[in-house]
Amino acid sequence: MKGVILAGGTGSRLYPLTSVTNKHLLPVYNKPMIFYPLELLKEAGIKDILVVSGGENISDFLRLLGSGRQFDVNLTYRVQDGSGGIPVALSLAKEFVGTEKFVAILGDNIIDKSIRSSVEDFEKNTIGAKIILKKVHDPHRYGLAEVKDGHVIGMQEKPKDPKSDLAICGIYMLDPKAFSIIPTLKLSQRDELEITEVLQYYVDHNDLTYEIFDGFWIDAGTFDALQSASVHMANKQR
Ligand code: G1P
Repeated sequence: MKGVILAGGTGSRLYPLTSVTNKHLLPVYNKPMIFYPLELLKEAGIKDILVVSGGENISDFLRLLGSGRQFDVNLTYRVQDGSGGIPVALSLAKEFVGTEKFVAILGDNIIDKSIRSSVEDFEKNTIGAKIILKKVHDPHRYGLAEVKDGHVIGMQEKPKDPKSDLAICGIYMLDPKAFSIIPTLKLSQRDELEITEVLQYYVDHNDLTYEIFDGFWIDAGTFDALQSASVHMANKQR
């Protein structure tokens, strides 16, 4: 299977750290942030990886990661013009992915436990899409999945009135149907396309499975989360 790392966006919640560089190049302890999703995909057996980022930063990613040889992976790059939300960035992976299932990961999601068995299970046994959920104390910050009797029955994106405390981690195992769903999406209240709407399509067609994740997961997109990710990774190496 192929992998996609979504490393665009303005990183506005981390301004001024992100005023002249991309969020995914900032340090998480002793590595640039993007090393973590890259190493996670590689460890899961995914070696053909597309990096999507904005035109202002793509050359920095190229200088940092090159062909991918130092990580023993093959890297491809695509430029995202402007923003528009995760599905817009994801749609740029259509030709790269082709007709296979694939794994997309948000470049600011730091995970320190292997996802290899989840990915292998998705590749061999599952149709549609698969997501990874993590119980959180601050559900209003995330996309959420409402689960009943072992099935996801609904999605919410950063709601004021959370119906669930299960956050949808930024790792999406998808089939190529995702690319035909994206053009049908409507803009959300924050004027973006939302990944939860893509997932909702799979829910509506009984095509979504999930796993509850019990390792360390953090979306390092805020000052506090960035610091927590660094502290966690530092402690791990002591
Ligand atoms: C995005 C998604 C959200 C998901 C989160 C995970 O939010 O929209 O559904 O739970 O990533 O990191 P963002 O961090 O881009 O605001």
